[in-house]
Amino acid sequence: MESYEEWLGAYAALAWQVELGVEDAVLDAPINRYDIAEPAPIAKSTKPNVQTPVKELDPTDYAKAAVKDIQDINALQNALNGFEHCDLRNGARNTVFADGIPSSRVMIIGEAPGRDEDQQGKPFVGRAGQLLDKMFAAIGLSRASDLSAKGIYITNVIPWRPPQNREPTPQEIAMMVPFLQRHIELVAPEFIVVMGNTPMSALLGMRGITKHRGTWGMFDGKPVLPMVHPAYLLRNPIAKRDAWADLLSLKKRMEA
Ligand code: URA
Repeated sequence: MESYEEWLGAYAALAWQVELGVEDAVLDAPINRYDIAEPAPIAKSTKPNVQTPVKELDPTDYAKAAVKDIQDINALQNALNGFEHCDLRNGARNTVFADGIPSSRVMIIGEAPGRDEDQQGKPFVGRAGQLLDKMFAAIGLSRASDLSAKGIYITNVIPWRPPQNREPTPQEIAMMVPFLQRHIELVAPEFIVVMGNTPMSALLGMRGITKHRGTWGMFDGKPVLPMVHPAYLLRNPIAKRDAWADLLSLKKRMEA
């Protein structure tokens, strides 16, 4: 290695791969590439070379097709596990689906898994998730409860960890919305809480969470409460006061 900078670059690349779950630099068995058959030559067409326009299918259409006939949550999870049109899955260790009982009155929707969620295959298990648990415990709700009245059901818009935890793109969000919409239909919660801009844009079509938090909206006939993401609260503890007001607003609606 020529310089310290080069060494640092190589070290960072290696650390990133280890974080993604790469454990071996080579395959277990060697591949003799001389044994691999040459691909057959492509037959020359006798037809005149007329360019037929190929209609590119939008990945969102694949997602809509994948969820069309799904009738239960297990089938939805299987469809998501088998969905290959989102590149994010290639860098993820697990497809993170949901946690909590599906009969809960409240469904919480986050953005995407982070490192801990990717490793454990469950949503909101890292620091932000621990804060989320404390916040909802303060109004008597928990993902560990098996009572519909006291449970929360938690999922994310994106089930795969984006590289370096970057924000999902509008295309990635649009691609996963058909899955999310079906998920909501199957769970049929009484109340939805969207945590941060990504789920708010997916369900309510707007951004600006610090402005819109606390203002109830509607998605598919269900009341939706936008709240700031718990990761934001970890960085800006001053915003916890507003988050508490939002939790009380949810509690009040649940008791009405
Ligand atoms: N942030 C999210 O939005 N979801 C998770 O599951 C974890 C962190």
